[in-house]
Amino acid sequence: MTDKAGSTGPQEASMDDIFRLLLFIHFGALLFAATTNLIMPALMPRMMALGAEGRTILGPLTRQLSINARLSLLVLVLTGVLMVAIRYDTGLWANPWFAAKMAFIAVITLGIGLSFTPWSRAIPPKVFGSITRIALVGTIFCAVMAFN
Ligand code: HEM
Repeated sequence: MTDKAGSTGPQEASMDDIFRLLLFIHFGALLFAATTNLIMPALMPRMMALGAEGRTILGPLTRQLSINARLSLLVLVLTGVLMVAIRYDTGLWANPWFAAKMAFIAVITLGIGLSFTPWSRAIPPKVFGSITRIALVGTIFCAVMAFN
């Protein structure tokens, strides 16, 4: 017996289930990226104010948060691309909100990419954080507009 989605039974995982799982992971990664982006401006000045001791104690924490946030962006992109592959086609680009979402993501990815190069010193951490924050908000807004 098949239902409307073409599944043969309740036990069988459908592409819809995989899509939902990917969307769930997408939101989880978004939580991580956004939380780190919000906590950093509160954490960094306090760490710096504590001097060498502060850097010894909190340095590994802020480094770990920063690595995890970058990994979560990677997870966002991977799950996003997979969801598009499962449910949409290239016609999605005709939706200006989707195109705008991708433009914001390009800004975030470019910033993170630069952070791995010697140019990272050219962007003060505060500016980097603000740009990423604005682009994240823009991405979420465009995602909601694009898909609802
Ligand atoms: C910084 C990176 C990203 C953020 C913050 C983000 C944010 C979001 C949010 C908030 C939603 C939920 C929208 C809703 O259900 O109303 C969403 C869904 C989605 N995103 Fe992303 N996203 C990111 C990257 C990507 C990328 C790179 C792609 C694809 C190339 C992508 C494709 C999708 C798709 C296909 C959905 C689900 C649409 C649906 O429910 O049918 N996302 N994203």
